[in-house]
Amino acid sequence: SVKYRKDYKPSAFLINKVSLNFELFDDYAIVTARMMLQANPAAESSGALVLDGEELELQGIEVAGQKLVQEQYEVDSEQLTIWLNKIDGLDYQQASFELVTKVKIYPAQNTSLEGLYLSSEKFCTQCEAEGFRKITYYLDRPDVMSTFTVRIEAEKKKYPHLLSNGNQIEHGSLANGRHYAIWQDPFRKPSYLFALCAGDYDLLEDHFTTRSGREIKLEIYVDKGKLEQCHHAMESLKKSMAWDEEVFGLEYDLDIYMIVAVGDFNMGAMENKGLNIFNTKYVLAHPETATDQDFEDVEAVIAHEYFHNWTGNRVTCRDWFQLSLKEGLTVFRDQQFTADQTDHAVKRIEDVKVIRSHQFAEDAGPMAHPIRPDSYIEMNNFYTVTVYNKGAEVIRMYHTLLGTDGFRRGMDLYFERFDGQAVTCEDFVSAMEDANDYDLIQFRRWYSQAGTPEVTVTSEYDELHKKLTLQIGQACPDTPGQSNKQPFHIPLKLGLLDKDGNDLPLELASNKEQLTGDILHLTEAEQTFEFVGVSHKPVLSLLRNFSAPVRLFYDYNDQELAFLYAHDKDSFNRWEAGQRLFARVIWQLCAEQEAGEPMQFPLHLVNAVQNLLSDESLDGRFKALALTLPDIKALIEEVERVNLDHLIAAHDFLKRELAKQLEMDWLVHYQANHHVGAFKQDKAAIAKRAFAGVCLSYLVALDKPKAYELAVSQLVNSNNMTDAETALQLLMHSNYSQKEQIADDFYRKWQNEELVVNKWLSAQATDPTDSTIERVKGLIEHPAFDIKNPNKVRSVVGAFAGSNLPQFHRNDGKGYVFLAEQIKQLYSVNPQTAARLTGAFNRWKKFDDERQRLMCEQLQGILQLPDLSKDVYEIASKALG
Ligand code: ARG
Ligand code: ZN
Repeated sequence: SVKYRKDYKPSAFLINKVSLNFELFDDYAIVTARMMLQANPAAESSGALVLDGEELELQGIEVAGQKLVQEQYEVDSEQLTIWLNKIDGLDYQQASFELVTKVKIYPAQNTSLEGLYLSSEKFCTQCEAEGFRKITYYLDRPDVMSTFTVRIEAEKKKYPHLLSNGNQIEHGSLANGRHYAIWQDPFRKPSYLFALCAGDYDLLEDHFTTRSGREIKLEIYVDKGKLEQCHHAMESLKKSMAWDEEVFGLEYDLDIYMIVAVGDFNMGAMENKGLNIFNTKYVLAHPETATDQDFEDVEAVIAHEYFHNWTGNRVTCRDWFQLSLKEGLTVFRDQQFTADQTDHAVKRIEDVKVIRSHQFAEDAGPMAHPIRPDSYIEMNNFYTVTVYNKGAEVIRMYHTLLGTDGFRRGMDLYFERFDGQAVTCEDFVSAMEDANDYDLIQFRRWYSQAGTPEVTVTSEYDELHKKLTLQIGQACPDTPGQSNKQPFHIPLKLGLLDKDGNDLPLELASNKEQLTGDILHLTEAEQTFEFVGVSHKPVLSLLRNFSAPVRLFYDYNDQELAFLYAHDKDSFNRWEAGQRLFARVIWQLCAEQEAGEPMQFPLHLVNAVQNLLSDESLDGRFKALALTLPDIKALIEEVERVNLDHLIAAHDFLKRELAKQLEMDWLVHYQANHHVGAFKQDKAAIAKRAFAGVCLSYLVALDKPKAYELAVSQLVNSNNMTDAETALQLLMHSNYSQKEQIADDFYRKWQNEELVVNKWLSAQATDPTDSTIERVKGLIEHPAFDIKNPNKVRSVVGAFAGSNLPQFHRNDGKGYVFLAEQIKQLYSVNPQTAARLTGAFNRWKKFDDERQRLMCEQLQGILQLPDLSKDVYEIASKALG
């Protein structure tokens, strides 16, 4: 059944406080919940108390001290309804009353990884969005907030650590080798922030002193033997705490902050109050087993979850349609944090790549939704790049429009008004608006309209009057359920470059309020802007720093792009110009194939690339990005329909030609940047590794023994996973004759490091060469694979369907059959992860008729599966439309 945002009603009852008792056993658990309930004065009164609950065995129920009998309540597979009006002497409208329920659950059999489950013999929970109802009967919605007391008891030897939210107030021993602990969280919270962990962990301890002088205990719990891989996570946590104090004035509020890492987790991590639970992938990091990118990801996710303590926990969401209120905002905050720790331009480019390759695709496909969706079938399907990453782009636009100080004023007012409450996106906008006396009426459309706006610019220069006229149009395509979109308020950051690459001053002839600094305010479907005092014909640098999540159309020529690639002072647009230059060539090569002509390499690229390659002033990571060809997925989104075979051939051709034309340059720069000797991980060393990696990728594209030797030597001699993984991937994706041997050796070396084995799995699953489909099937059978572990599923199946375009989209359809087969194996085991995989079919309309037919055939098959989970059903049925 579909849930609609417009149907929101406050809860009929509130829960003032709750205490939970968990009796944990190896094969089951007994959960007793004792809660003080009260009719909600803000809601219509009701004689029925309806609690959420799924997969629970009800063992007993009491209201106000009376055991209930059958006719006083009703249970079905999703709810427990208590007829309060049938309980003698209960004045539920006037006074609060106590409800006690007792249920039996089976965590060891819970493979959905939602609710209470076991991960390598340790108990853990995942409650967001609606998982708490698999633990006990409750009002499982974020606007019902309560204080929690949690008692956990379990066998002492197997589960020495018993953890929950807040502070431990008591612990002790019990008979039969059991023990218990009691935790109390002083902050009111919704059920989705509840957490429990029980097991035998290694523990890393540290502490942080807040700027007001409070001493916070920091604890990271991991699988035995992994302590050496936790230090980076701990450093990241301390950096995050300091950053949030410095940049947003936000301090941590409890006396203890715990992180538990688990190997089986559907997502990245979860911000449970005082007790974050993380996928091991975002905690464990050591240079020998994790890449520089992994280190950055760990730091970012640790920061993200920490930042949720204010943006998510202290101020939470009224209902799940408001998810972007906390996620868009928290992603923006973690992006800013990472930019501050690393490099602003590089981080911006990486974030925009995600938008272009994934969010634009979502916005143009069957699952398109506004950052604040209007409806859903399964909430878990709406933890999307739109809600998260486009949501962060929307927050970034406030920052752009209001400036750093204005944005901070808005945030301060937001916390002042809403601390301790469950609120809406509208509440956030109004805080930004009121704190700055800034009109955001039109800006609100970013919350309600789905789809990627298209901005089209044409320019005309009047030499005589030194005038530049920009004609700018905006339009937004229809999306499922939405047509006739209204214009957005789009901040378009721009620069006009003179012939030396310097920015010319910006001044409008009239309507001067349409330009603030270097931001042009687009607000109408068609607008004309007249710039005066433009001393000579400029080169336009438009949408600098990707100031809005839109597609920009402007008819650049190759000279202009090469000029921007060499000179734009906006690093983002410098990168962007290169990407446009490459993309133009790739589409040209496609056209040549279409016309049955041989592909011709345009020599003008050589100079442009060579200049950038040897520009000593540029950061190595920036260079690596600027020398990488546009992602095929992003290219597919540029056209209505794609001839995938031509596109891949063109992409390969360009890569190989650039490799050949600049062979000596790649080699020289590889040798100058590839470092052998003691490992370092400072900014300079990271930059060199990134740059050397791209140089090596061009060398390997030459398909020559000498190049393979370099890669093999980098792989076997490296003392760090960054160099090793780069070389492994390049070799696995090449025609190198010994690659099987390389793969075997790598596995033998790393078979006891799960996260490294995952790299090994995905390096093979993403091999674009022809034997892959058989190899991928082999990987599923490999002892290292486990369909119950989402990281493994993502490493093999997710990587294959998401990143191996040539093989997933094989002409014979075997790639699609393979994916459908895996979804079939997984949908009842882990509906959430199965639904993610199903999304790989979403863009079927982009492809040729035959591929469309083959993909639809698989989607139809999926829809016919018995007892299909609603997660997969929603994705597959919407895909077919
Ligand atoms: N709130 C978590 C985060 O963004 C993600 C939890 C997602 N869980 C889910 N079942 N979809 O940090
Ligand atoms: Zn989050």
